[in-house]
Amino acid sequence: MEEKSKRDGFGSKIGIIAAAAGSAIGLGNIYRFPCELGNNGGAAFLLVYLIVVVFLGIPVMLSELVIGRRGQSNAVGAFKKLAPKSAWPIVGYMGVLCGFIIFAFYSTISGWTLEYIVKSVSNSFQGKDLAAMEQDFSNFHDMGWRNVMWQAIFIFLTGFVVFKGVQNGIERYAKILMPVLLVILVILGIRSATLPGAKDGLVFLFKPDFSKITGKVLISALGQGFFSLSLGMGALITYGSYIKKDDNLTSTAFSVVLSDTLIALLAGIIIFPAAFSFGINPQAGMGLVFNTIPMIFNQMMGGYWFCIIFFVLLAIAALTSTISLLEVVVAYLSEELHIKRQWATVLACVATMLIGSFASLSLKSNTSLAFGGRTVFDWMDFISSNILLPLGGVLIVLFVGWKLGKSHFFDEVTNSGKLKSPLKRVILFIIRYLAPLAIIVIFISGLIK
Ligand code: PFF
Repeated sequence: MEEKSKRDGFGSKIGIIAAAAGSAIGLGNIYRFPCELGNNGGAAFLLVYLIVVVFLGIPVMLSELVIGRRGQSNAVGAFKKLAPKSAWPIVGYMGVLCGFIIFAFYSTISGWTLEYIVKSVSNSFQGKDLAAMEQDFSNFHDMGWRNVMWQAIFIFLTGFVVFKGVQNGIERYAKILMPVLLVILVILGIRSATLPGAKDGLVFLFKPDFSKITGKVLISALGQGFFSLSLGMGALITYGSYIKKDDNLTSTAFSVVLSDTLIALLAGIIIFPAAFSFGINPQAGMGLVFNTIPMIFNQMMGGYWFCIIFFVLLAIAALTSTISLLEVVVAYLSEELHIKRQWATVLACVATMLIGSFASLSLKSNTSLAFGGRTVFDWMDFISSNILLPLGGVLIVLFVGWKLGKSHFFDEVTNSGKLKSPLKRVILFIIRYLAPLAIIVIFISGLIK
């Protein structure tokens, strides 16, 4: 008890959900999800994605929250406390490393949101056709150091919030801004779905062609599910450790998964109808979102203002995610290595900046920062999302299902018997058998491809 009161924590129930949803909802939903869906056969990907989210996302998320709250510690410390003198803390170390890698490339795209705020304020999209928009986008990539500059500013912003601690920083910002983002996305979705030719986009998004489901689609959907829900690297172990003993972990997991999935779907409803309407290839990858969105605003009354608000909110959504990425690293450095929280933040930010700049510079068209058919940016994304997160996820469910065990799990999800938790047995069954098996099968099918 005494130990708990020394740690920072979330103040209210809505604060926890907002912070965890803030971690989950970000560029993964609005930027990465449409890219992955476009490159992996459209609706077939969506179908697998939804199955992953429901059957794996909820149990893995609950497992992380249970480990965090039970262990009352960071991603590494929680395993050390719950399984002393074992090899389990390796899962935590892997998570810290993964958080660091994701932050390094995620901050590149986060930086773009700042560039696009400036572009929208200066009305630079006005009247541009697709070709001009695409040209601008690739010109921007070729200005490698400008990308690095925005990335540095974004890392600084993240550091600033984490510096201030959990309740003052993370919770306060997340609580207000997430609902505003939802409203603007709904408005955008309606506009996009009513553009001429939008129907083809909706068909692409919702009508699955089962022959498109391959090993690559499976592993991409798995990686995207973990990435989007912030699972597999201890972000929610860390946040779980800040949740009070009388909060309901199961309902928190359900709310976060539901809101995250809703936002990803909305992003799909925004991007694909518009992309088909404007003739943008759904496999356009990085340009898909950054070119499509301003073009929708060009077709809207008050588009100038909406566009500014959109990119500001996108930046904030990215920020609430990078905060959780940095928090994993900082909580580890300060609690395990006893580096003062403030210094730990500075240290992590500088290291991310150094490594992250390679990710940014590797996106120039004539880059030498590429090997094996992938840029440094793509490698960081691939290794973290498609390998480390699923691996972390499988070890996390195995830990809760078999090492922590039934009685500790039930005790944690029922708040020591105070809550009913009717689904606890089903969820434990999934955690023990279904989730590990499914993750391993998908993982192997992806490798065999
Ligand atoms: N879930 C975030 C997104 O969808 O943008 C990205 C992310 C944040 C991944 C935190 C992992 C994480 F621990």
